[in-house]
Amino acid sequence: MWCLMHFLLVLQCVHSVRIINIRVPEVIQYGTRDAVTLDCDYVTKNVTGLVVKWFYNDRSQPVYQWIPPQKPQALGLLKNKLDLTYKVSQNPYMKHRALRILQPGTELTGNYTCVVSTFLAEDEKTRPMTIFVPETRFDMIQDRLHDGYLNIICSVEGVFPKPELVILVGNRPLNAKSSIKNFEGRYTALTSAVVSVDSLPPTVEILCDMQVPLANYFSRKRDIFYRDPPLSSPESTNYLQTSPDTGNSMESMPVLVLVPMVLLYILQSR
Ligand SMILES: *[C@@H]1O[C@H](CO)[C@@H](O)[C@H](O)[C@H]1NC(C)=O
Ligand SMILES: *[C@@H]1O[C@H](CO)[C@@H](O)[C@H](O)[C@H]1NC(C)=O
Repeated sequence: MWCLMHFLLVLQCVHSVRIINIRVPEVIQYGTRDAVTLDCDYVTKNVTGLVVKWFYNDRSQPVYQWIPPQKPQALGLLKNKLDLTYKVSQNPYMKHRALRILQPGTELTGNYTCVVSTFLAEDEKTRPMTIFVPETRFDMIQDRLHDGYLNIICSVEGVFPKPELVILVGNRPLNAKSSIKNFEGRYTALTSAVVSVDSLPPTVEILCDMQVPLANYFSRKRDIFYRDPPLSSPESTNYLQTSPDTGNSMESMPVLVLVPMVLLYILQSR
């Protein structure tokens, strides 16, 4: 018993710096905030040799350093992106512990680690931050192929960070081919699946689900597949497929835009 108490006492002395709260906004929508504050609140018994550092992702290079009573410095990724005059507290050993990031861009998405050290001890804590951009376009089309197959194509543009697309037919996810590209810091993703029309019920719901896991974001497109397009008899299905009338289960705008895009993509990836 005495041993345990002694051990805890020693532990407390050694750990004379403790981060009691790290506050990092988990998800921020891009363009909605002029500035964000990442704070790292600590207690210390002895301020001799106090240094506050922030790291981005790996621990190789600090992005911020403050050695009181000197001025704080922004380094690397955060250079020229901070308000270095910002004070989170009046305490001379606390005032510059927080990061005040101006106009945060998507490139600042990542894990932030605050490290507080003195001559005697050190403590650190890590939290993620995601700067999220919702999609500028989200489309799903059904393309009936001539050999009795249906091609379902789902695409999303302008998202950050990486989206994930899933096509579901009657609530069952389909095996799909996917591609994703980063264009000027925003993702464009395309997923397509081919199913035999005979394997589908006469009428079935088709969904495309988009998730952005880091942003806890979800969006959905919904459409209905009709095996026999309205007003057509089974014998004339093939004939009708080439007529403009078969387009009425699809939205015509995305079809016009997407089909050439998809063809281009398929040709490119050969
Ligand atoms: C703080 O730590 C330094 C270095 O170990 C020591 O010289 C100093 O006496 C300590 N100050 C207090 C108030 O305990
Ligand atoms: C933080 O790190 C974890 C583990 O390496 C990683 O899975 C996650 O995506 C990172 N978070 C961000 C916002 O980059």
